[in-house]
Amino acid sequence: MTTVPVAIAGAPYAVTIGRGLLADLPAHCEGRLRKAKVPIVTDANVFDAWGEIVGQALAAAGHEPRWRVLPPGEASKSWAGLAATTDWLLGEGVERGDHILALGGGVIGDLTGFAAAIVKRGCRFIQLPTTLLAQVDSSVGGKTAINTAAGKNLVGAFHQPALVLADLDALATLPARELRAGYAEVVKYGLIDDPGFFAWCEARATALLAGDAEARAHAVAVAVGAKARIVAADERETTGARALLNLGHTFGHALEAETGFSDRLLHGEAVALGMVLAARFSARRGLLAPAGAERIAAHLATVGLPARLAPLGLACDGARLAAHMRHDKKMDAGSLPFVLLRAIGGAFLDSTVDLGEVARFLDAELDR
Ligand code: NAD
Ligand code: GLY
Repeated sequence: MTTVPVAIAGAPYAVTIGRGLLADLPAHCEGRLRKAKVPIVTDANVFDAWGEIVGQALAAAGHEPRWRVLPPGEASKSWAGLAATTDWLLGEGVERGDHILALGGGVIGDLTGFAAAIVKRGCRFIQLPTTLLAQVDSSVGGKTAINTAAGKNLVGAFHQPALVLADLDALATLPARELRAGYAEVVKYGLIDDPGFFAWCEARATALLAGDAEARAHAVAVAVGAKARIVAADERETTGARALLNLGHTFGHALEAETGFSDRLLHGEAVALGMVLAARFSARRGLLAPAGAERIAAHLATVGLPARLAPLGLACDGARLAAHMRHDKKMDAGSLPFVLLRAIGGAFLDSTVDLGEVARFLDAELDR
């Protein structure tokens, strides 16, 4: 078991990474479950896979789990999903000092975290991430949000969890495609500032995806350590350090928007392709050696993640994809900072990118 401290000023907490955490949940919550009733938000897939184990663990410690089981999928991260969840929490009599449990992937974590941020102007919550993506990224750092008609994650709050318990056993029931999509966010940390970790990913990705416990534990611990360091330095994304976590996301988000935020392209798959595009765009600008960009593409393709645009079969041009980028939250007085690469492990924010140049680059990539 590994514990990674997240040293956020005024709201420090720990991320515990290990096995058997859900099966022995009350013990790992370290006294935070102070009442018999424990509110727990999840989705139907996670409930099917883990509801009984978590319910039994709570009951064995004298608790009564109070379940809120949402439909799986991005649609639950909505105004309607938020209203229903906050009404339910209020109906359960949740108080500020209570801890709401968020059992699931990024959808459940983002929604429950936002509900916790606004119910009674702020309740405590515990992240119990069950996808690889949520364990290495979304459960840590306190970004919570819902989607609106105008786009994804456009309404939300920074609200840090009181604790994160990343149970590696949860990954055993995760569909292979979801596991692979989450792996893109693992690779991201190597590309941002850790070339040694990228090389480790090249060597160990196949084992990790096949279920190797040591490889999974190492990847989650390194990723969480990197995320903890970055968010502690720049919790509110004001200095630029945290913005580096958006590597691949500006391109990826445009692709998700164009494919309707659907199963056609999962978030992690869009991030994988987005990181390849950011790398190739960096090479086109003379920042990164083309061989570096192709090394990234080759690794992601090897594990079965998308690394080329053409196979998506998009019926649009580069200008249309670039237009989606205008809705990016990083847009600042008409300019959109891009996370680009000077090297594998050398990410930086470039505010000199012109969206017309991006559109021309994407036109070429769409045929590739
Ligand atoms: P998700 O929560 O939709 O989970 C993916 C699928 O896996 C769902 O169908 C879910 O029911 C199922 N599932 C989850 N855990 C399972 C398990 N252990 N066994 C079986 N099935 C399981 O998706 P995700 O990829 O975890 O998260 C994506 C969301 O996270 C997006 O909404 C994205 O915006 C958000 N996100 C937030 C942050 C942040 O910093 N807050 C960072 C990255 C992504
Ligand atoms: N996933 C990006 C962030 O947490 O800032």
